Amino acid sequence: MAYESIEGKTALITGGAQGIGLGIAEAFAGAGASVIITGRDVDKLGAAREKLGGNTETILHDIRDVEGSPGVINKVVELRGALDILVNNAGVGLFKPVSETTLGDFDLMFETNVRGLFTLTNAAIGELKRTRGNIINIGSASAKRGMKAWSVYSATKAAVLMLTELWAKELAPDVRVNTLSPGGVDTPIFDKAFGGKKDEVMPRVHSQHLMKKAGTPADIGRAALYLATEDWITGTNMVIDGGLYHMI
Ligand SMILES: NC(=O)c1ccc[n+]([C@@H]2O[C@H](COP(=O)([O-])OP(=O)(O)OC[C@H]3O[C@@H](n4cnc5c(N)ncnc54)[C@H](OP(=O)(O)O)[C@@H]3O)[C@@H](O)[C@H]2O)c1
Repeated sequence: MAYESIEGKTALITGGAQGIGLGIAEAFAGAGASVIITGRDVDKLGAAREKLGGNTETILHDIRDVEGSPGVINKVVELRGALDILVNNAGVGLFKPVSETTLGDFDLMFETNVRGLFTLTNAAIGELKRTRGNIINIGSASAKRGMKAWSVYSATKAAVLMLTELWAKELAPDVRVNTLSPGGVDTPIFDKAFGGKKDEVMPRVHSQHLMKKAGTPADIGRAALYLATEDWITGTNMVIDGGLYHMI
């Protein structure tokens, strides 16, 4: 395997203003990449940009706005002249028993985690072929072994796994495509998923891992940096989960 420096490369990270996306943005920026993050909240994007430093750009985009996807990629090329790495990170998880999951919940998760990811990738393929770039799709350990009440969220992430595998086949050898599947990572997603009760939920999340602790966005950032820079890895699913898989 050859290590490809990320220095000077342009990375687009969806949902990069907080949580795992911000952890990845910090790892990439720290290694010298030019980072562009997307999100729906101008204030959060501005705060993240400040944290990440001068070379960071932000693009306001709701990943469910599929008509807007080509415009996002065009903007990246306009700003930086190229797109080298696409990190499809933006995602949403609502953890509810199937009997309580509405069609609206189902659509929100599939439109964000699958439809939006598909559309942005579709728009980026031409540019990534030109730069011989790579794609990292953020999946989840739950794609392979989920918990009760995670059925729809886990199904979206199982879809991401298969999209990754087949895109890797289709796009090789020009573009590498990999999934990065975290276990429980301490981010605001738990507040959104459990009605603002993250503090109550986190002790249980920590205990669900063999390592007895949830991951951090920085843990996922380091793994993403590895996938972005090792040029002989494609079509893989890197599970980074503190041993969660063996506990559920
Ligand atoms: N945390 C975990 O335990 C865990 C485990 C496995 C996988 N994951 C996956 O990791 C990814 C990041 O999750 P996280 O834990 O960092 O969650 P988070 O803190 O809630 O962050 C989610 C990010 O996605 C963005 N996002 C959500 N809906 C969006 C939309 N419609 N358009 C644009 N951006 C949108 C959010 O941005 P705005 O709301 O500001 O627009 C936010 O930046 C997700 O794909 C999630 O499924 C998380």
